[in-house]
Amino acid sequence: MSMNGSKYDVVVIGAGPAGYPASIRAAQNGLTVACIDEWKNKDGSHSYGGTCLNAGCIPSKALLESSELYFRSRSEFKEHGVVIDKVGLDLGAMQARKGSIVRQLTRGIEALLKSNGVEAIRGHGRLIDGTTVEVTDTEGKQKVVHGDNIILATGSMPMVLPEAPLHSNLVVDSWGALEFEEVPERLGVIGSGVVGLELGSVWQRLGSKVVILEALGDFLPMVDLDVAQETHRHLKGQGLDIRLGAEVTGTTISENNVTVTYTVDGESHNLEVDRLVVCVGRRPFTDSLFGENAGVELDNQGFICVDSSCRTAVPTVWAVGDVVRGPMLAHKGTEEGVMVADLIAGKFSEVSYKIIPSVIYTSPEVSWVGQTEAEVKASGIAYKVGTFPFLANGRAKSMDQSKGLVKLIAAQDDDGILGVHIVGPLAGELIAEAVLAMEFSASAEDLQRTMHAHPTLTEALHEAALSADGNAIHMINN
Ligand code: FAD
Ligand code: NAI
Repeated sequence: MSMNGSKYDVVVIGAGPAGYPASIRAAQNGLTVACIDEWKNKDGSHSYGGTCLNAGCIPSKALLESSELYFRSRSEFKEHGVVIDKVGLDLGAMQARKGSIVRQLTRGIEALLKSNGVEAIRGHGRLIDGTTVEVTDTEGKQKVVHGDNIILATGSMPMVLPEAPLHSNLVVDSWGALEFEEVPERLGVIGSGVVGLELGSVWQRLGSKVVILEALGDFLPMVDLDVAQETHRHLKGQGLDIRLGAEVTGTTISENNVTVTYTVDGESHNLEVDRLVVCVGRRPFTDSLFGENAGVELDNQGFICVDSSCRTAVPTVWAVGDVVRGPMLAHKGTEEGVMVADLIAGKFSEVSYKIIPSVIYTSPEVSWVGQTEAEVKASGIAYKVGTFPFLANGRAKSMDQSKGLVKLIAAQDDDGILGVHIVGPLAGELIAEAVLAMEFSASAEDLQRTMHAHPTLTEALHEAALSADGNAIHMINN
């Protein structure tokens, strides 16, 4: 292998939501860019977009949307006066629709890279030194490429659980659970995190009896307690059987089912299911990424160590997305990728790490930004809380989606918004207003004085801001 490879201003390893926007922005900044990606679909084909487009955000949201329509058409349409004689399920068509959305979007990424003049290279990238990457293509042929700067955006992989190793299509990870060809009669899920709740909801709506085993005693501990409790109540009401404090001790595979053994408070239990999904978190992916002299450091959990600008210990090497500290979210990776591409081009850029929105796409949806009430309390500052239930929101009532609430926390002294927490219809869309407000350092009063269209769900956020000062209009006991 010759070391005289092609030379670029920037070489990006990974074309997920962190790597491909970094590549595009670097090209927009007038730099020459190569983006190396090795994603392999289940049929062996390649496509761009990483986990998010191929096996994460997009396919899961496609199935969440379809399963929600199926569920609502069976349970709620009658109340709207929409009478359908018989609602049937064509899972093949549902999966085909999901596949088509993924194909359209991943091809879109390929087209975007091309139209921006990014050289897209399929293969495995390995960092040899601060400016050199070795690329191994699918046939095993190797070449080197050079970059004045290199961006590592290699993403993450599901964590394995030694007590529940994956087994063909019986014990699967999140990707496997997006691909079921039949609705399992009994579905076990290990982990009541974001994947467990979203994919558990999909299959529960389509008819599975779903049991979720969660090791921790608390439900969604990262979510504000009021919102977590409200969410728990509604998900339980839908039939999701969430067993907290459940420690999985082993699995036994039979021909067509799996028995999970677990303990709660030291007492042993068995759970027999037809399919089991293991979703206990993800780990940063750096397998075969570094040559001996790469010089990049990892922390004790395997994340690439970076500073607040995403620069590694090697000044010409940067790392962004799931492979570095912070929440494993597509939009967080994208902002980091864009920031780094701008910094390399000599522009000013930074990521607002304290204002990262999170969304869980259950029904009702959950979203939040900023600090929880417990975090604010622990920080010792004086604060006030405003809440407003969707039950009193006209748009939510007319949609028949009036479960949930908005909670806003603001500082007592300067009225600055510290956190907004929502469980309710389209919470993932509603949080955008709170994110923008916090980006602009808005106060609760700024939201109170902002006109919100009527009737919209956004009025619930307006009312929560008013309620922080005891002034909500549509609330009996402010
Ligand atoms: P990835 O998307 O993992 O992309 C990394 C890419 O790099 C891959 O294509 C990989 O093949 C490639 N690669 C790795 N190593 C090499 C190498 N050495 N050489 C060449 N290529 C390499 N996040 C959200 O914000 N919203 C959601 O709704 C959401 N839903 C999700 C649902 C599921 C089921 C899952 C599993 C995840 C979900 N996520 C969601 C998380 C989101 O997918 C990740 O945060 C995001 O994909 C991380 O982006 P990334 O670019 O860092 O890494
Ligand atoms: P997670 O970290 O959200 O949840 C994992 C859960 O498994 C935790 O509640 C944990 O306590 C539990 N757990 C760990 N070990 C266990 C064990 N041995 N037995 C039982 N429970 C155990 O991880 P998840 O759900 O796998 O998702 C991975 C990542 O993907 C998340 O970090 C998330 O940010 C991202 N994601 C984001 C989505 C979104 O933004 N809507 C959707 C899906 C995933």
